[in-house]
This record gives sequence, C-alpha cells and structure tokens, in this order.
Amino acid sequence: MSDSRPNVPRHVAIFMDGNGRWAQQKGLPRIKGHETGAESVRAVVRGCRDAGVEYLTLYAFSVENWVRPREEIGGLMKLLRLFLENNEHELHENKVRLRVIGRMSDLPALIQRKLKKVIAATKEYTAGNLILALSYGGRAELVDATQQIARKVKAGELEPEEISGQTIADHLYAPDVPDPDLMIRTSGEMRLSNFLLWQLSYAELYVTDVLWPDFREPHLQAALDEYAHRNRRFGDIK
Ligand code: IPE
Ligand code: IPE
Ligand code: MG
Repeated sequence: MSDSRPNVPRHVAIFMDGNGRWAQQKGLPRIKGHETGAESVRAVVRGCRDAGVEYLTLYAFSVENWVRPREEIGGLMKLLRLFLENNEHELHENKVRLRVIGRMSDLPALIQRKLKKVIAATKEYTAGNLILALSYGGRAELVDATQQIARKVKAGELEPEEISGQTIADHLYAPDVPDPDLMIRTSGEMRLSNFLLWQLSYAELYVTDVLWPDFREPHLQAALDEYAHRNRRFGDIK
C-alpha cells in the first residue's frame, strides 16, 4: 500500500456480507461463517497491500447489527478480539495504521481498550490504512457530524452560511481519509445498508455473488481489474 499506481483505487471499501448464508449452506452455525470470514479479511488486507491500495475500509459491524441475537453478537465480539490479538504483529511488520469509524463507545469495554491500544501503537504508520467500520452507520455518522457542527454554530465559531460540503466532510469520523474509489459488496445484495452514505457518492460499485467467507485474492483481483476499466466521469462528458 504505497504510492498510487494508474487505475488502482486509492481507497477500497468492502461490505463483507454473506457469512451467515455461507454457514447455513454447509449446515454449520452462523458463527463458523464469521470465523472463516476472518480469513478472508487477512487475504484481502494482503491483496490490497500488494496491489498498492492505500486505504481499505471494512464494514464489520453496523449500528443496526445490535438487534441480532446476543449469542451472535458475543461471538462476533470475541472474533474481533482474536483478530486484533492475532494480527497486530502483521500491522507492525507492514507499517499499516489501524483506524476505526463508528460509535466505538457502543463496543464492550475490553474491545475498546484493545482497539485504542492498537490504534495508538500504529498511528504513525504511513504504508497503508486499515479502517474498521464498527457499530457504524452512515446516517449515525451524519447525525454525529451535524451535532458537532451545530455546537460550533451555537458557540459562535461558525456561521450557518459558512457550512459547505467540505464542512460536513471535515466532521465525519475519519475526515482526512479520501472518499472510496471502489466499493465491493459480497453475497449479491444490491443495497447500501447504511454504509458510508456521504463518502460513496462517486464510488464505483462492484457486487459479487461470492459469499464473504469464500472471498480471496483472485476475487479481489477481479474487482480491481474491473475497476481499472471503468470510466469515471464525475458529472463531466469525457
Ligand atoms: C456479514 O455476514 C457479517 C456481519 C453482518 C457481521 P452476515 O452475518 O450478514 O451474513 P448473512 O447476510 O446473514 O448471510
Ligand atoms: C451489515 O450487513 C453490515 C455488515 C456487513 C457488517 P447486513 O447483512 O446487516 O445488511 P442487511 O441487513 O442485509 O441490509
Ligand atoms: Mg448480511
């Protein structure tokens, strides 16, 4: 994940979906799908690094996912803890910075502590960025940004007329991160499910029927290859 190469997306956002269906198809408990999905995460982090992608955002847990059965949520939180414990050394080896977007304070205290530790330990790294969306919702993010902006207006630090698109972008969870160029959704669902609503405005969308636990480097490469041939116009006529 370093200097940008032609036609390589600088930022890839991945909607990791289909873990439950993968397990169901195999007659396994849903958590087995999440477990195998963690292997896909490792594969994709490596694949993005090798391809020269600078930012990788992974939608791991939505603000709406809290309605799932307690047992499944507990299993997911345990997997997140294991993922951090087992992969921290690889972030250091590759000088990858870990970040989180979402309402991190919703997460169990132990997970928050671990996340904060790894975030702090990797914050100077510039070779790549791994951004985990946890208790993340696009609307929640815009609500949080709006509240911050309103506080500044109330305090007299900002005039309402001064609020621009840039002001909103500046108050999102990771304001310095460029918008995703490519959004990949696995398991064939054609919807955004509250993912990066502001930031995906001009992203190229790629939906594959492959379920997340089966997604590996060749599938990532197929998405990157397709992206390389897309014609991004941004409203222009080229
Ligand atoms: C994605 O897989 C992982 C999370 C939402 C945490 P799902 O658990 O949504 O799997 P499906 O969509 O039910 O197959
Ligand atoms: C939500 O996916 C976000 C993640 C992949 C973590 P869902 O599986 O919850 O989305 P819906 O419910 O199918 O829209
Ligand atoms: Mg799903």
